[in-house]
Formats: sequence, structure tokens, C-alpha cells
Amino acid sequence: MIILKTLEEIELISRASQIVAECQKILIRELKPGMTTLDLDVLTETCIRDLGGIPAFKGYRNYPKSLCASLNNEVVHGIPSRRVLKDGDIIGLDVGAIVEGFYGDGAVTVSVGEVQPSIRKLIQVTHEALSKGLEQAVVGKRLSDISAAIQAHVEQHGFSVVRDFVGHGIGRQLHEEPQVPNYGKPGQGPRLKPGMALAIEPMVNMGGAGVKVLDDGWTAVTSDGSLSAHFEHTIAIEPAGPPRILTACN
Ligand code: MF3
Ligand code: CO
Repeated sequence: MIILKTLEEIELISRASQIVAECQKILIRELKPGMTTLDLDVLTETCIRDLGGIPAFKGYRNYPKSLCASLNNEVVHGIPSRRVLKDGDIIGLDVGAIVEGFYGDGAVTVSVGEVQPSIRKLIQVTHEALSKGLEQAVVGKRLSDISAAIQAHVEQHGFSVVRDFVGHGIGRQLHEEPQVPNYGKPGQGPRLKPGMALAIEPMVNMGGAGVKVLDDGWTAVTSDGSLSAHFEHTIAIEPAGPPRILTACN
């Protein structure tokens, strides 16, 4: 069942999402070669708590940290560790916060220092794919219109969309119905309604779509070792017009 949110509930998801956005801004500003992903995790938790939120990921199904930090060939759910960032890496920064029982969830992928044009392209196309999905997130469209728009943009540029992880409804739970795949035929699934809150999150591989989860039980990496990028926004479907992008930086 898809739980529609009241305006008051959307407001709480928005507050949680704004904490996510603020933390991401700080992470992007502070990130530099020589730091560890654990340093970034400490920054994330401090930032979330300073802004009055609770880290959403820590303890979620026993996930140990506040940040998912996915480096290079890691797709999602990279666990912060003593690994050191170096010039030319790319890193996905996925942050979740809870405010008064409601979740916000967002991810960005950025480069550490300079990266080759082909890698910048991967990041840019993934970011654009999220925007293409958001364009479809309007009342009266169907859920898979979002999915299809994301997939089309990614494949137009010769990259692959990950199938094994999907976006999701969000609210009092981090993961609610519906699942939001980043692939599929348009015109299928439930119609989008005002009050739906969704986390839309394309994960895009430079090589094949395959992924596998490492023995730590979390870190998802590309099967072929190729690079991967991930962007995510928490949004609310509006009564008319484009969605409210709750994790956007204000
Ligand atoms: N954005 C990710 C998701 O929606 C973050 C979950 S990490 C977890 O699945 F540790 F909380 F699972
Ligand atoms: Co998510």
C-alpha cells in the first residue's frame, strides 16, 4: 500500500531532507585527498545531530554508520572505513536523516580533485537521468514513466542502469511502497498522486549493469569492476506541476 502524506507530514520529510542537503553541502566542501571515508562519516553524524536530526542509516538493519560512502567501482552502501581518498577518485555520498519520526534520503556523486572527461560524463549523465525522472514525477503520470525516462537517458549515453537496487516510497519508514525501478516500460504501475513521497535514485555503471554484494553484507560493487555513480532526491508529488524536491539545496 502506498501511504499518502498530509501537508504536515511532507513538512517533516522536508525538514529531514533539508538536513540531508545541508550535510551533503558540508561533505562536498570538506572532502579532499588524504581524508578517510570514516572522517566523512564523523562529519555526517555531527552535522545531522547539530541540525536536530537523527542519522537514519546507523542501526538500520544493522548498518554500522551514518553515511554510505561508495568509492569508484562501489555502487551503493559502501561502509565508511580507514580507506584514504585520493585525487581522481569518485565517491557517492548517501545521507539519511530522521526528524520527528520522518525520513529524508539523498545521494550525490562527486569527484575527488580532477577526473578524466569520461568519468565526468558518467557523473553528469547520472545526474541528468535523475532530472529526467523528476520531470515525469507529476500528477496523473504513472510510476514507470519515471523509470523509463531514467533508463532511456542513461542508455542513450552508452551506460547501464543498475537493476538490483531501486528507489522507494519514504515517510515514517526509510523504505515504503512503491519500489521505483530505474528501468522499465512507460505507462505502467500506479498513477502518481499528490501526497506521494518518493526517493528516486538512479545508479549507473560505466560498464555492465551487474552488481555483487561483498562479504561485509553491504558494499555493492560492479561485477565488471567499472565505475558507478548514484544520485538521489527525496521528492513530494504536488497537486499540479513539477514535484517538490525536498533534498535540494536551498
Ligand atoms: N539511500 C539508500 C537506500 O535508500 C540508503 C540506505 S543505507 C542503509 O537504500 F544502510 F540504511 F540501508
Ligand atoms: Co534511498
